[in-house]
Amino acid sequence: MGAMEFRYEVEGGNFSKAGHASSAVKKILKQLNVDARIIKRVVVALYEGEVNVVAHAHKGHILVNINEDEIGISIIDQGPGIPDIDLAMQEGFSTASAAVREMGFGAGMGLPNMKKNTDNFEIESQVGVGTTVRMTTRLS
Ligand SMILES: Nc1ncnc2c1ncn2[C@@H]1O[C@H](COP(=O)(O)OP(=O)(O)OP(=O)(O)O)[C@@H](O)[C@H]1O
Ligand SMILES: [Mg+2]
Repeated sequence: MGAMEFRYEVEGGNFSKAGHASSAVKKILKQLNVDARIIKRVVVALYEGEVNVVAHAHKGHILVNINEDEIGISIIDQGPGIPDIDLAMQEGFSTASAAVREMGFGAGMGLPNMKKNTDNFEIESQVGVGTTVRMTTRLS
């Protein structure tokens, strides 16, 4: 199979569309007969990343690269950025607003779960500009 690339847009604040990219990627990986446990890990990590753009940033896009060996996901947003990435990575750390918490988000578990569920995980962020998360996971 040749390499495949997909792009998804994410709107800040629009919780009804969060999960759009992760469900699309789930379908693609199923069609490629990827192991269900691996699909689950990828989908959890991507879903948390989508929700973070919706909850914490203004807008963003997601680039997904799939080849025979691995899936690479970049989540690129324009937003406030993350001033202290080590702190943001800690379980339970959250700056989610009251409105976001009322929707059931804001446990401070998204980033740690993204790291746990991927083989490679990197964040780059510039305060006042935005955040880029890159994750890769082996598919076999
Ligand atoms: N894309 C982003 N832009 C700006 N800040 C972010 C972004 N992603 C995460 N953060 C910051 O890092 C914190 C921790 O993120 P994490 O995903 O772990 O928890 P959360 O989103 O607050 O809650 P949960 O994911 O459990 O619903 C956030 O509260 C926010 O301060
Ligand atoms: Mg989160």
